[in-house]
Amino acid sequence: MNSTTNDSVEPLRAFVAQCHQAMAEHADEAAQLAAIKPALKTLLAQPDWLPASHMKPRDDRYAQYPLYVAADNSLSVVSFVWKSGQWTPIHDHTVWGIIGVYKGVERTEVYEERDGAMVCTRTIDGQPGEVGAVSPSIGDVHKVGNVSDDTAISIHVYGGNIGLIERHVFEQDGTPKSFVSGYEPAPVLVPAA
Ligand code: FE2
Repeated sequence: MNSTTNDSVEPLRAFVAQCHQAMAEHADEAAQLAAIKPALKTLLAQPDWLPASHMKPRDDRYAQYPLYVAADNSLSVVSFVWKSGQWTPIHDHTVWGIIGVYKGVERTEVYEERDGAMVCTRTIDGQPGEVGAVSPSIGDVHKVGNVSDDTAISIHVYGGNIGLIERHVFEQDGTPKSFVSGYEPAPVLVPAA
């Protein structure tokens, strides 16, 4: 890795260090989220650290690039890239996640199962620089998509290796189906710590 690459990912490297520090200092999830959210906002406010290789949309579905994965799988940072109109299915995470919009407008629909149907209880349009959170304790089921005209990019942080975790997508009637998302074939930008 040359020095230019090292310099360019410095904001991401600093953010990863802040995440590990927050997780070392705070045992409970709420305190970890409270510490990591402002750190993610700082990262989102900085330009030019995300390379083109991790901002490439796919034609067939949204793309999910690994930026960092901790050696013990306790933390992952991922860029999601969406063409206009691309959506996830309704899904859960099973670990906490913090989602920050880097570019474009990302719509989140929060879902609950009520009497055998998945019901959208809240819709949030995330603008660049805004962050939100999910977890089994605060609400873990949602559907996310790009409602802007151009490519949208968001940076997601998870309390686990989200690409390897077995979790669920949900049919409209609430029927769950297990899935493991994996990642696009791209190198991580910050070496595992
Ligand atoms: Fe999600």
